[in-house]
Amino acid sequence: MVKSRASFLQRLAYFLHPAKSAEEYIISPNGRVIAKFILKQGHISYTLNFDGKVVVKESRLGIGIRGTRGFGEGLSLVRMGTKRVDEKWETVWGEEREIRNNYNEKVFYLAENSGERRMFTIRFRVFDDGIGFRYEIPPQPSFSRIAIADELTEFNFDSRGMAYSIPANQPDRYEYNYTKRAIFELNEPVHTPLTIKTTNGVYASIHEAALYNYGEMTLKIDEWGALKSDICPLSDGMKAYVELPFNTPWRVVMLGARATDLVKNRIVLNLNDAPREDFSWVKPIKFIGIWWAMYVGEWTWAQGERHGASTENTLDYIREAKKLGMDGVLAEGWNDGWEGDWLQNGKYTDFTKCAPDFDIEKVGQLAKESGIELVGHHETVGFVDNYERQMEEAYKFYASHDIKYVKSGYAGSMMEIQGRREFHHSQLGVLHYQRAVELAAKYKIMLDIHEPIKGTGIERTWPNILTKEGARGQEYEGGALLPSHATYLPFTRLLAGGMDYTSGIFDIANATKRIATTIAKQLAYFVTIPSGMQMAADRPKMYEGELAPMFEFIRDVPVNWEKSVPLAGEIGEYYVIARKGRGEENWYIGGVTNENSRGFRITLDFLDEKKYQAKVYRDGENAHYRDNPLSYKIDEYQVAKNDTITVYAAPGGGFAIELIAM
Ligand code: NOJ
Ligand code: CA
Repeated sequence: MVKSRASFLQRLAYFLHPAKSAEEYIISPNGRVIAKFILKQGHISYTLNFDGKVVVKESRLGIGIRGTRGFGEGLSLVRMGTKRVDEKWETVWGEEREIRNNYNEKVFYLAENSGERRMFTIRFRVFDDGIGFRYEIPPQPSFSRIAIADELTEFNFDSRGMAYSIPANQPDRYEYNYTKRAIFELNEPVHTPLTIKTTNGVYASIHEAALYNYGEMTLKIDEWGALKSDICPLSDGMKAYVELPFNTPWRVVMLGARATDLVKNRIVLNLNDAPREDFSWVKPIKFIGIWWAMYVGEWTWAQGERHGASTENTLDYIREAKKLGMDGVLAEGWNDGWEGDWLQNGKYTDFTKCAPDFDIEKVGQLAKESGIELVGHHETVGFVDNYERQMEEAYKFYASHDIKYVKSGYAGSMMEIQGRREFHHSQLGVLHYQRAVELAAKYKIMLDIHEPIKGTGIERTWPNILTKEGARGQEYEGGALLPSHATYLPFTRLLAGGMDYTSGIFDIANATKRIATTIAKQLAYFVTIPSGMQMAADRPKMYEGELAPMFEFIRDVPVNWEKSVPLAGEIGEYYVIARKGRGEENWYIGGVTNENSRGFRITLDFLDEKKYQAKVYRDGENAHYRDNPLSYKIDEYQVAKNDTITVYAAPGGGFAIELIAM
């Protein structure tokens, strides 16, 4: 339902007498969120309130343009438009089948008071759990192309609020541990989603939606102590070069009274467009891969005696995948270019040439006979020029071998693109990732992107982006992952979409890669960290020995959901979520804790009116991530709606529950 409420007279009044000052409220459908747009002496700003509390104090708006006056001063309000939308739409895959899009919109058409009287628009959408707004620059009489030098958008939170952040513009991209600091202590630019607990008890997360053809928005404290957008620069210092008309990505603030409210927020997806083509061919999968064996030093990516992706090993993994009930097999190191210092040699990687001991025909044949999907691999090492030269051929090559899934990677600290060194999250990086997604779609290829551009909901429009990495994943185990990491992710990184965390490592005590979790927590990840491609990341032999009973959960857990109900959580402490499998009656619950043990009491009020067989995979009484990680228990009993389950999680532990409808 879409209705325009701005009266004709109101419009006429603005047109005849453009306002130099104005204050306009935009109120969410249920009134919990109130944004105010302010025009004062030609300058524009906004405020944001939630549940009667100030969340964002007056904050500047505007855009700086190279070589000319920017947008944000000397403005008048020429016209205003309003719209009310309340609709539902269905996802191709994801955490929920159906999503409600319910907001009030106001659009402010602005023009300069003097000079060229250039025009400029700001569109606000106010939902019951946050806001989105963006700048729209129409074609101007005197120019059609601009260089954006700066974006002035501020998010002026009380700077004593607590921020949960990772640093931006660093060599390891998004792969850092989260820190918890007051906003005023953020002395470096940080990535979004930037989650904040305000001094008046509101949970907020600043992010962006629909990032196309622009640098990523990072945030930095400005000279007034306010968080300000700091668009990732190109190597020449500009933020973006754009043709007009141009719309910036949406600036988003998600809001909730509890940390778990943020997890339910769907504003980012709602601010993206519906797909423009048919994506019914997209299917989420669970897979194993020739991968962790390299991390623990058994195999290598490079050719030689211990080459992982040999024909023999891949055939073996295909047989294993079938036995284990998995859908696919990834083989990393299958192609030419991994020899010597692969971080340097990545410049010459060939994406259509197999290693001499990798017979793609033979491997493809067995995969086909076994009903197993092959997951291809494109490690670009950030050498985008080399990749783009081959990209179409590379996708064609896979498509011709019936390979529909590709894991890609950009492991360099910078991208080499158009002969320049650019940040992955710069406009040129963003444009590259998008070309890859669209070309993949052309060949009906689904992607798992490592070292990606952060998620901004574009998987709504391009559902062939099944998952991304874009945070520290399990490859950092062996010292650099804290037990609290997985209790930060749901309230930070995962607000940007699903993640390939590469869960399910059972070889926890391995001396080369010691894991800082219990085994039960490894199962929990399959529910707490959603991903359209979910990897059971350990070697199959680990799933077949004495830990096989724990693998049953990984075998059974779905990768596509009907609905998701976050049950409990505090940022960096603990998190519990229930999800119902899409197209099935069963529910699954995952729970994780940080280094502290905890007891959880879960009320099953979300279940359907049915009886269920509960299978509870949990930590043993003496389990501890440090010295007793493999101690586990599996309890089975019957439950029904509104019953309670109590379950213990050890230090660094967690649990996974399967509720099988009877
Ligand atoms: C980093 C990725 O995150 C990892 O999964 C991959 O194995 C390596 N790059 C090599 O491509
Ligand atoms: Ca990585």
